[in-house]
Amino acid sequence: MKFSEYSSFFPCLIAFLFSFSLAASAHNHHEHFLHCLSHHISNTSSISNIIYTPINPSYASILNSTIMNSQFAIPPFTPKPLVIITPFHASEVQATVICSKKCGLQIRTRSGGHDADGLSYLSPVPYVILDLRNLRSVEVDVEDKTAWVQAGATLGEVYYRISEKSSTLGFSAGFFYTIGVGGHISGGGFGILMRKYGLAADNILDAHIVDAKGRFLDRKSMGEDLFWAIRGGGAVSFGVVFAWKIRLAPVPPKLTTFSVVRDLEKPETKKLVHQWQYVANKFDEDMFLFVRIQTANSTSKGNTKPVLQAYFVAVFLGKVEKLLPLIQKSFPKLGLVKEDCVEISWIQAIVLYTGFPLGTPPNVLLDRSKPQGRPRSFVEKSDFVQEPIQEDVLEKAWERLYEEEVGIAALRLFPFGAKLSEIPESEIPFPHRAGNLYAIDYIVTWDDDGNATATKRHWDWIRSVHAYMTPYVSKNPRGAYLNFRDLDLGRNNVNGTTSYAQASTWGRCYFKDNFDRLVHVKTKVDPTNFFRNEQSIPSLPLRWKKGGD
Ligand SMILES: Cc1cc2nc3c(=O)[nH]c(=O)nc-3n(C[C@H](O)[C@H](O)[C@H](O)COP(=O)(O)OP(=O)(O)OC[C@H]3O[C@@H](n4cnc5c(N)ncnc54)[C@H](O)[C@@H]3O)c2cc1C
Ligand SMILES: *[C@@H]1O[C@H](CO)[C@@H](O)[C@H](O)[C@H]1NC(C)=O
Ligand SMILES: *[C@@H]1O[C@H](CO)[C@@H](O)[C@H](O)[C@H]1NC(C)=O
Ligand SMILES: *[C@@H]1O[C@H](CO)[C@@H](O)[C@H](O)[C@H]1NC(C)=O
Ligand SMILES: *[C@@H]1O[C@H](CO)[C@@H](O)[C@H](O)[C@H]1NC(C)=O
Ligand SMILES: *[C@@H]1O[C@H](CO)[C@@H](O)[C@H](O)[C@H]1NC(C)=O
Repeated sequence: MKFSEYSSFFPCLIAFLFSFSLAASAHNHHEHFLHCLSHHISNTSSISNIIYTPINPSYASILNSTIMNSQFAIPPFTPKPLVIITPFHASEVQATVICSKKCGLQIRTRSGGHDADGLSYLSPVPYVILDLRNLRSVEVDVEDKTAWVQAGATLGEVYYRISEKSSTLGFSAGFFYTIGVGGHISGGGFGILMRKYGLAADNILDAHIVDAKGRFLDRKSMGEDLFWAIRGGGAVSFGVVFAWKIRLAPVPPKLTTFSVVRDLEKPETKKLVHQWQYVANKFDEDMFLFVRIQTANSTSKGNTKPVLQAYFVAVFLGKVEKLLPLIQKSFPKLGLVKEDCVEISWIQAIVLYTGFPLGTPPNVLLDRSKPQGRPRSFVEKSDFVQEPIQEDVLEKAWERLYEEEVGIAALRLFPFGAKLSEIPESEIPFPHRAGNLYAIDYIVTWDDDGNATATKRHWDWIRSVHAYMTPYVSKNPRGAYLNFRDLDLGRNNVNGTTSYAQASTWGRCYFKDNFDRLVHVKTKVDPTNFFRNEQSIPSLPLRWKKGGD
């Protein structure tokens, strides 16, 4: 660790770094980070269980365990938080906020660690990680169709705990089971139920948050402005979400699902993808039919050239007898037959779409360790499509997947419409509602061996595909989805001096005109811009205001 870089700016940090050898003689207690913590945490015996410094043998494994994008676990990215705090209680979160502020340290809050750019565990300035892995209770109220979920719970834990209590209740949120609800819900939350129930963030009834003053607030005490902002606006700009009260989603005891794959070398498959753009967003709200386009190795003998495939994957909240006529009427060319379909419970569908084989016991969803073969390194970008894209344009986009032979690249097309189009743009900060046919998720993943040339190739590839799509997707601003974070859209100054105009460049992509209200709320609740990162909402400078708040 390089002490010299920080020492002159962070006097209390020096005290902190010496605290392990000089604990007894440490003076100036209130300036001292660790001592500051102990002053704010009444149960001192719990302190040793929640603090990891670089000299602690578990520090590296705790740090690494939820780095879900492997490229950031490899130099030069290897993060170096001065301390990792894994709270069990709200008072410990409050103490971390108060003491970090006092010592001039930044906080990186991590729930599931899936951030595409690693913002929950990387920082260019001295920082601590507030890792919420121990805050993961899920209390389900079946009668009320609600649950209180702590921010460090994973989606897998939430889905599983709900299914333990009821087979006909689910929650509208994302696919992948190790995602944390802290980050996911505060950025929106796309998933298979969203056409019927809206995003995860549309289904929040209350929240507990620790704000920049270290106060523990609920919906009533935080007020509707702040409660609005944290549901899709990136709660990280406003505080630390401690827990969410979620509205559960009724699901039938059995739903129908299929995944059919078609060869994109065939002209009829190209037409099928083109036609999907017209039908998927108009289906009944019970249907979620998405498309994944990716390369696969040729199965024909002696031919190792990859082939392009389109997977048409659906989850339908009803019986197969009801699904078949819907597809035959609106999308007959798919050639769906009954044998392609399987009727399973909601929780089995979750297990399947998180990537396990059909029939895997659902308690796999409780596993919080890094999934096998994962995480790989990945880069992601997003778009929203408002007019159907011509067949030849689409074809040129997916033909570029051939160029990605050293990684696995995919285009995923998620249908919008139904409930998503009914919710007003300003209801929560996520603004991409009526008028959007579907969202595109561009992703490339690879096994990282630290080869910088290869890494650059993947980044160049996704940037060039994204650039190619510019004329065909939403414009002014070009939409993007916060949960598929993209620092290419713009980033803040490390020193926190980002101007409104500068932040608007990326802010309007994610939030359109809701960006203005986010800045307003931010300025009100965190005027000194304590909670900040490369893409946090800036507070407007209040020059007329003396000495902050
Ligand atoms: C394999 C994979 C699959 C995915 N699938 C989907 C999907 O199906 N649908 C979808 O919508 N998205 C999906 N995503 C994106 C995912 O929703 C986002 O990356 C989300 O932000 C992850 O939340 P997290 O808590 O796991 O991440 P983290 O990295 O812990 O957090 C993400 C951001 O939120 C902040 N944050 C975390 N916890 C809190 C908190 N308690 N309070 C305040 N701020 C907090 C962090 O500081 C960081 O800025 C996927 C990502 C991956 C890697
Ligand atoms: C204090 O913390 C320890 C360790 O986390 C715990 O076992 C104990 O029950 C706590 N005591 C009180 C009074 O909360
Ligand atoms: C971090 O985890 C990855 C697997 O995700 C592993 O390859 C790597 O060796 C780990 N690094 C450390 C320092 O533990
Ligand atoms: C294709 O085959 C090669 C060599 O056998 C293998 O390394 C690669 O992972 C395969 N790709 C896919 C997408 O299955
Ligand atoms: C690194 O990746 C590049 C591009 O994929 C490749 O040409 C090169 O051989 C790789 N270098 C090593 C040392 O593996
Ligand atoms: C903050 O950083 C920006 C760019 O990174 C720089 O232009 C500006 O001068 C810095 N401001 C201060 C006060 O250091």
